[in-house]
Amino acid sequence: FPVDKIRNFSIIAHIDHGKSTLADRLLEMTGAIAKTDKNKQVLDKLQVERERGITVKAQTASLFYSHHGQQYLLNLIDTPGIQAQTVANFYLAFEAQLAIIPVINKIDLRNADPERVESQIEKVFDIPREECIRISAKLGTNVETVLKAVVDRIPPPLACPNDPFKALVFDSSFDHYRGVVTNVALFGGQVKKGDRIVSAHHSKTYEVNELGLLRPDEHPTQRLYAGQVGYIIAGMKDVKEAQIGDTLHLQDQPVEALPGFKPAKAMVFAGMYPMDQSEYPGLRSAIERLTLNDSSVTVQRDSSLALGAGWRLGFLGLLHMEVFNQRLEQEHNASVIVTAPTVPYKAILSSAKLIKEHGSEEITIVNPAQFPDRGVVSEYLEPVVLGTILTPDSYTGKIMSLCLSRRAVQKNMVYIDDQRVMMKYLFPLNEIVVDFYDQLKSLSSGYASFDYENAGYQTAELIKMDILLNGNPVEELATVVHRNRAYSTGKSMCERLKDTIPRQMFEIAYGGDITRKMKLLKKQAEGKKKMRLIGRSSLASKNSLSDLPAE
Ligand code: GTP
Repeated sequence: FPVDKIRNFSIIAHIDHGKSTLADRLLEMTGAIAKTDKNKQVLDKLQVERERGITVKAQTASLFYSHHGQQYLLNLIDTPGIQAQTVANFYLAFEAQLAIIPVINKIDLRNADPERVESQIEKVFDIPREECIRISAKLGTNVETVLKAVVDRIPPPLACPNDPFKALVFDSSFDHYRGVVTNVALFGGQVKKGDRIVSAHHSKTYEVNELGLLRPDEHPTQRLYAGQVGYIIAGMKDVKEAQIGDTLHLQDQPVEALPGFKPAKAMVFAGMYPMDQSEYPGLRSAIERLTLNDSSVTVQRDSSLALGAGWRLGFLGLLHMEVFNQRLEQEHNASVIVTAPTVPYKAILSSAKLIKEHGSEEITIVNPAQFPDRGVVSEYLEPVVLGTILTPDSYTGKIMSLCLSRRAVQKNMVYIDDQRVMMKYLFPLNEIVVDFYDQLKSLSSGYASFDYENAGYQTAELIKMDILLNGNPVEELATVVHRNRAYSTGKSMCERLKDTIPRQMFEIAYGGDITRKMKLLKKQAEGKKKMRLIGRSSLASKNSLSDLPAE
């Protein structure tokens, strides 16, 4: 395929707006998949994805499409839906000067109002309404227009067939039989089986064993060419060797590395412990297997007096964490205790001695147990995010009170049509990690949407709050809170503890299916010593798994 007949595109949309359905229709229409089982979502594969109807792992597919009497190769990158960041992603795409095709889905619904949505798009994103395409991904209405627009409105990729081979690694996964499978986009030249390729990141050399297109299943080919998107298997044993954002080139033809990606930073941390220490090795291998295919999860060993040896894991966001937990349980049958989520705080050290010991004046705190004493700190910092809320105007009053109660500062508020309002707030991240989204949804009868992007750090009056049980501080219950929130947080934790502790023998607030619950109950019966652990598990679950279906 000549580069001018190639188009790369992805679908950005809020959770549940029909990305996967649209992707399936596009695959069907271009013959990549059969038009059978209408509701089967090909790009969504994991059990948790099917159950929760959300996309966890990005899947890529190359489509062949004829338009203007010409064959085109369209590379669809199905973006993961685990962060509701449509607005933030729109601005990223806009800043990168990417072509944007506004598509309004679900026009078959009786209460669909595409006129109104077009006005909103005009107002919020400054895109002329004439550019909008109204579709029903479910019924297939107008989906062909989307394919045509991809060809007509998106420029071909900037790729040079005559340059040396140069590819960007944008995803990777692990296959037990074949090792690491890297997904790559070729910016220059070509590559074939048997070529010796080098990772610009760590300078290791590999021989290409297999390569091909993703349609969306792997489809081996002889070569990959500039402009194409596909996969390469080259004897890498560990996904850490295939860093997302790395550049691959030929052994004897070094190239300047591509700018790559800003690595996604973990923003929510939680401790994970086996229910019983005898399950430690099993849980360790389950966590290892899962992180093999999700390099955005950070893992650190950790231990606590009551819970024993475990880990502190970092996730991109709360939903990411919940999905990870659910996969651990479902796919690896692991029973875990999850502690309440925390965010990465920072402290600026004031003591010269500590700065020297530490090698820098700034430390990041991901575990309340490491919270440094006031005496050695000149300033504490907390991560903040810029949140965008879209809501019918009848709920603005309630939403403003909710935001105020979360220490949020309003940045902007505009009407995007005669009934809908867009509000922007700067939130301390820790104020939204627990149940903000649930509360927003419930006080707006489900109508308000929420989207956030990271916005750096701000000074905060942080303190470590200990909880004493029978007069002894319990390390696992310690949290870092804002001084103004200490009293209310402490009070509500004590109230929950009061409710939780005596009932341990009978009830566990834990998401998951009934067989898991029975298993947990059986385990509890195995020994009273576990009561203590379960007490914490229950608390932690209420916090961290708030989105899971209640039993
Ligand atoms: P994430 O993977 O979580 O980001 O969601 P998604 O955007 O991929 O949404 P998905 O395709 O899973 O669709 C969400 C729901 O909307 C499903 O129940 C679909 O059947 C439904 N849906 C998608 N497109 C249409 C449409 O055009 N009309 C109607 N009525 N329903 C649709």
